[in-house]
Amino acid sequence: MEKLLKQMTLEEKIGQTVQYSAGFATGPAGAKVSYDELTEKGAMGSMLNVYGAEKTNHYQHIAMEKSRLHIPILFGLDVIHGYRTTFPVPLGLASSWDTKLFEGVARTSGTEARADGLQWVFSPMVDIARDARWGRIVESAGEDPYLGSAIARAWVRGYQQGDLSKPDSVAVSVKHFAAYGAAIAGRDYNATDMSDITLRQVYLPAYHAAVEEGAATLMSSFNSINGVPATANPYTLTQILRKEWGFDGFVVSDWGAVAELLNHSIGPDGATVARKALEAGVDMDMEGNLYGTTIAAQVRSGVIPESVVDEACRRILRVKFAMGLFEHPYTQVTPPYEPTAAKREQARKVAGETIVLLKNDAVEGKGPLLPLKKDTTVALIGPLADSAKDMLGSWGALGEAKYAISLKQALQERLGDKLLYAKGTEILTGADAAVIRHVSFVDQGNNAGAKEEPAPDDAKTIAEAVEVAKKADVAILALGESADWMTGEASSRVHLTLPGKQEELLEAVAATGKPVVLILLTGRPSEIKWAGEHVPAIVEAWFPGMEGGHAVADVLFGDVNPSAKLTVSFPRAVGQEPLYYAQMPTGRPAGHADLSRLPANGLEKFLSRYIDEDNSALYPFGWGLSYTKFSYSQPTVSKGQISVAEAGHAGALTAAVDVRNTGSVAGTEVVQLYLRNTSASVEQPVRELKGFARVTLAPGESKHVEFPLGFDELSFYNVESKRVVEPTTYKVWVGGSSLASGETSFEVK
Ligand code: NOJ
Repeated sequence: MEKLLKQMTLEEKIGQTVQYSAGFATGPAGAKVSYDELTEKGAMGSMLNVYGAEKTNHYQHIAMEKSRLHIPILFGLDVIHGYRTTFPVPLGLASSWDTKLFEGVARTSGTEARADGLQWVFSPMVDIARDARWGRIVESAGEDPYLGSAIARAWVRGYQQGDLSKPDSVAVSVKHFAAYGAAIAGRDYNATDMSDITLRQVYLPAYHAAVEEGAATLMSSFNSINGVPATANPYTLTQILRKEWGFDGFVVSDWGAVAELLNHSIGPDGATVARKALEAGVDMDMEGNLYGTTIAAQVRSGVIPESVVDEACRRILRVKFAMGLFEHPYTQVTPPYEPTAAKREQARKVAGETIVLLKNDAVEGKGPLLPLKKDTTVALIGPLADSAKDMLGSWGALGEAKYAISLKQALQERLGDKLLYAKGTEILTGADAAVIRHVSFVDQGNNAGAKEEPAPDDAKTIAEAVEVAKKADVAILALGESADWMTGEASSRVHLTLPGKQEELLEAVAATGKPVVLILLTGRPSEIKWAGEHVPAIVEAWFPGMEGGHAVADVLFGDVNPSAKLTVSFPRAVGQEPLYYAQMPTGRPAGHADLSRLPANGLEKFLSRYIDEDNSALYPFGWGLSYTKFSYSQPTVSKGQISVAEAGHAGALTAAVDVRNTGSVAGTEVVQLYLRNTSASVEQPVRELKGFARVTLAPGESKHVEFPLGFDELSFYNVESKRVVEPTTYKVWVGGSSLASGETSFEVK
């Protein structure tokens, strides 16, 4: 590689740092350049949004045959939860708490992408997301750094297989570095502002885990961090990423983010901001045009040392060499995609693991409403009931609605005549819909422009749905968000209630007295307080992917016993956001307060709480029900005391619990361990997840589950930003959600 670098002109080296989208646009207005010409000149090292053997080979032939040094192009795409075979959206996948499942999804997606000329996926998105208003929470693994790190590792393993040179490995781009998920007020692209301790303890661990797992590339984020844009941030990109973590891959900017540094007001012109980004450690400029047009002159005039360009180029070439692209630059044309039975089976099985049973009350004294009996007459109602397209979720890559199974189709297969259907209402109607579509990310690129929506007659369609419900044994309402234009990038919302007239529809159907199952098809936690109080069964299905309809039906009829658990907190009211379980302590805790310690003079008012709503989540992190019941023994620890020195090692002690299936069907429980450090030099959260295990149990069966605890679980960042373990007492809880009550403790001396 060094030999090649020496042969390269300055322009050719800079060319490696330039990336363009020659396909569709996944950001504001694409560039107008000649890609053939740039490729021939060696002025473009990478492309995005170009896929398929024919198209990628077209550019690759130019690069390999006509460019002076024959350096292959690296082709990347947003492969987020499947390439052609579409799996549930990442927030759904996370609800499985199943790292093997991620590896499998990444394997299938990576193999499909690679066969289509792509060597690079803009995944995994490992941003910690604690604010349901943020549209991109759907792409995340949720609110928790411990779980997020385990999932980040699994994605990287699945995509890269620990060996980029394998013909079916794809390089990852871990994004968005860093702390993009903490956008203030949940508004996409907004600034983030947080202490160094929070950055390191909550937001950085998942990226770090991915880097430790060998991630080939990272993508810098749009936000600023404590006033310094992440795309020109020497602290995160060089100090932490390169110096502390030893990352030797390359960093690509997000779409146009180098040029957007002008809007961040950190320089008077393009040349200055491009220099700042490059020197901070952004090696490739995505769809930005600034590196290609401003860097060379600055090197020649001595403003930028050439060694900075050399280093960026070297990092990019290193990945191309590692992937074997110089020897195998082309892709063989393969037959058009058809979902095989095996792929459908994988998609269905995966989706079954991601569907969360939030509530399942008894109705009419007959026991829990779900699972339904096979001969039930069902009224299927709602705007998402028959939408195959929405099943695919946002960032669906090349997933196609024609391959997706809607809930209506799946129930039709099972129930035939016993299935009745009414749409009831649209997701959003009339002017509201037109406005949201107009600003929607998807329409900007694909079907530009808002169409006038006809004025809806919701009263009539809701009344029709009520009549249909009256004819059935059970009403199933499939409600939620539009996957395309209400979730994902640039889709932040300040209202978390069900959009449009869906809540009205739900209440009208519930008023018939028929038992109601609410199926949520959403990309974020919704505000469903009324449903939580009045609807007996609630299922969060997210956007469950190509086999989504079948998977939801499998759960509804008990062929799959739900095992998924929330990785995000569901608020009672949007005003609680950002809402997450690992809150910091307060001097005036509400809820768990020991009121006996307060003077009995009415001071209870002065607690850390809202006067008009509870602090707690409606459905907390880790929550999810099953068709069976699990009981937990009292947790134990292998040692009541360890020394600080011992705590410096992995597995210094273990915590253990016995879990038993006390119900009558087999089931899988996600056993969760939480810790609280009760006395530290820097206050620590009231609870933090520090272990989890998926345990499958036959009826009556019991298993002993152990969790190793050591430096990784017990350390935290002190005021000097050093990761330390201090003498303290840890409280330990083990159970089936973040509300786990079985408790023990141990001391660090
Ligand atoms: C913008 C998004 O923020 C990022 O996630 C994506 O990978 C790029 N555009 C490329 O499409």
